[in-house]
Amino acid sequence: MVDNGSTPAGSIPRNNQKPVLIKMLKSFPDDMPIVDIVKATKVYPPDIIAVQNVSLAVGKGELVFLTGMSGAGKTTLLKMICCIERPTKGVIEVAGNDLSRIRQSEIQKLRRQIGVVYQDFKILPRQTVYENIAIPMEVMYRSPKVIRKRVGQLLEILGITHKREVQAAKLSRGEQQRVAIARAAANAPPLILADEPTGNLDQEASGYVMELFEQLNKSGSTVIIATHDESIYRKSRHRTVELAHGLFSGHVGHRQLPLINA
Ligand SMILES: Nc1ncnc2c1ncn2[C@@H]1O[C@H](COP(=O)(O)OP(=O)(O)O)[C@@H](O)[C@H]1O
Ligand SMILES: [Mg+2]
Repeated sequence: MVDNGSTPAGSIPRNNQKPVLIKMLKSFPDDMPIVDIVKATKVYPPDIIAVQNVSLAVGKGELVFLTGMSGAGKTTLLKMICCIERPTKGVIEVAGNDLSRIRQSEIQKLRRQIGVVYQDFKILPRQTVYENIAIPMEVMYRSPKVIRKRVGQLLEILGITHKREVQAAKLSRGEQQRVAIARAAANAPPLILADEPTGNLDQEASGYVMELFEQLNKSGSTVIIATHDESIYRKSRHRTVELAHGLFSGHVGHRQLPLINA
């Protein structure tokens, strides 16, 4: 037998360090949790336990309210889902991707599929409203015509059409918040994470925002809204999960996926 140095059939190649590639959210099966959090704990140094041993499964196409008082751990949970923070313990999967096993370069690809409304907006103050909302569509190489149309739609739904060419820094907090929401919604991403999206809005504007989330959800986006604003979830038909001191304390809603403090 001649040994030509090649790997024998059936054995594991020595160089088995294949990069873990991102699975796409859009092609993820409908009957599985698109966000699957298993026994996640987050400790901020030195010893602040923000989230403790929490498990939550969100089905594809669900709209879920993550509620609880300030300091309950809502923002931390959302940040872990979009890879801004890593859990200290536990596993978080998004569309079957184990976030602790994804390379930094792949995380960017994952993030492009998630629309995030940050609690502090993170809009670009020197850019106009139009430019801020257009950014995620430009990243995806949408045509200028498509971008113009979509920005127009979003401004109308959110009641800020008249602010289109205004520099973001010159807007009120409530207007800035709506720009952040429009930007997150621009590509109608398969997953939307919104952190206190009505925190600076009056009842009328909150209604516009919720209408937009409902529309996105009806067209297929999974939406997770962290909020302590009872007025937006009290009468809702969607599932509500409540965090208290980093633990889930209760849950109601029409669709019960596994939800435990394991
Ligand atoms: N970067 C951080 N460093 C240290 N502690 C933090 C940090 N972020 C949040 N915390 C703490 O973690 C806990 C949960 O915070 P957070 O997730 O922001 O809750 P919520 O969004 O429900 O108000 C709070 O006690 C908060 O002070
Ligand atoms: Mg918060």
